[in-house]
Amino acid sequence: MEPSLIKQHRSLVTELPGPRSRELERRRSAAVAGGVSSTFPVYVAEASGAVLVDVDGNSLIDLGSGIAVVSVGHAAPRVVDAVSDQVERFSHTCFMVTPYEGYVAVCEALNERTPGDHDKRTALFNSGAEAVENAVKVARHVTGRQAVVVFDHAYHGRTNLTMALTAKNMPYRDKFGPFAPEVYRVPMSYPLRDPEGMTGEQAAGRAIEEIERLVGADNVACVLIEPIQGEGGFVVPAPGFLPTVAAWSRQAGALFVADEIQTGFCRTGRWFACEHESVVPDLITTAKALAGGMPLAAVTGRAELMDGVHPGGLGGTYGGNPVACAAALASIRTMEEEGLVEAAARIEEVVGSCLRSLQRDHPGIGDVRGRGAMMAMELVRPGTLEPDAEATRRIVGACHRSGVVVLSCGSYGNVIRLLPPLVIDEALLAEGLEVLSGAVSEALSDGSD
Ligand SMILES: Cc1ncc(COP(=O)(O)O)c(C=O)c1O
Repeated sequence: MEPSLIKQHRSLVTELPGPRSRELERRRSAAVAGGVSSTFPVYVAEASGAVLVDVDGNSLIDLGSGIAVVSVGHAAPRVVDAVSDQVERFSHTCFMVTPYEGYVAVCEALNERTPGDHDKRTALFNSGAEAVENAVKVARHVTGRQAVVVFDHAYHGRTNLTMALTAKNMPYRDKFGPFAPEVYRVPMSYPLRDPEGMTGEQAAGRAIEEIERLVGADNVACVLIEPIQGEGGFVVPAPGFLPTVAAWSRQAGALFVADEIQTGFCRTGRWFACEHESVVPDLITTAKALAGGMPLAAVTGRAELMDGVHPGGLGGTYGGNPVACAAALASIRTMEEEGLVEAAARIEEVVGSCLRSLQRDHPGIGDVRGRGAMMAMELVRPGTLEPDAEATRRIVGACHRSGVVVLSCGSYGNVIRLLPPLVIDEALLAEGLEVLSGAVSEALSDGSD
């Protein structure tokens, strides 16, 4: 592949956001709905690999990948070629009217790559939320049941049903109700905040007891879970939690649905996060990294379930758009040919060791967790579990002003998460982490820590 044309370095020529970004921000406020926010209003002119170049000529290190989307890097050469080629041939027919090979090839790739060697089928959509909605449609249709079980801290999207499935009120749900009915929330395994010594199996027992109390096992259409929670704070359940919940679901005749929209496609050091505990979901939702930046999402599942819905019951005008499918095939090829599963595991070592060393110095870092290139630290008031959202904001702000894009998350807004493109250079990652370490030391060494 051609080397990227944008130098993989950090270089600041103005303060951030610079004057052109600030000017665009003024235009934006007169044109763009206020409900759409941006974490870091630096306007991007171009990007490649792990570097964003803004309209003022600053080069920023991207440790967020557009929220786990550009795992293959910005403007990944195979994706750029495939998209350009496809868009010249045709950009849309609507698969529901006249089909094309790319859609079929993406479904084949997903059937082959997702956990389990059973017969599978896939349907394609535009966004993660749409995939989750469709997984629930399939689950309800084939089980003839209505209840959907979700977990504390879950995030599944912003449409009406997925708002109901999402846990956090502000900003996702506040005053947007009424929400879709037949959604039941139960406790997640959250090792930092669970009673000390609680095992994954015990946490699963707690959740199952609650399901049986709230809804009754034989009313559950599906149990929907992120194997590592994303927006909810990169919560990695204790070992044993996922397999126990999956086994209970099967026994109860409910579908076990893994939402791997954020964790999927090499991000956690496996193709899918369920593989860490050999869990095979009945249905799996994917999006984000699937298509290297083009909007595409999927539901993949057991053939008898996915084929259990009548023709025309699933679909949409743009679902499985041919340009997005070409991008997906190129992304998947990039992941295979560039060994991005292994790259994510290497990133875990580097980022994990940096975050753990910061934790040793700063009691305000209550936890370091994650898998692969999906790592986070949770900030607390020293000696307590009280969330420190203020320190989180200060650290994120300082990183941004220094040209390093990091993101926060968590039900309490006190988790800093790192999601670098899996193709990031070692030196660039080290520089990004150095900036983060400086920001942490400054924020947590002011006498309060
Ligand atoms: C686990 C998970 N599910 C669903 C979604 C919703 O995806 P989208 O924003 O593409 O609708 C997200 C987005 O962050 C996610 O992380």
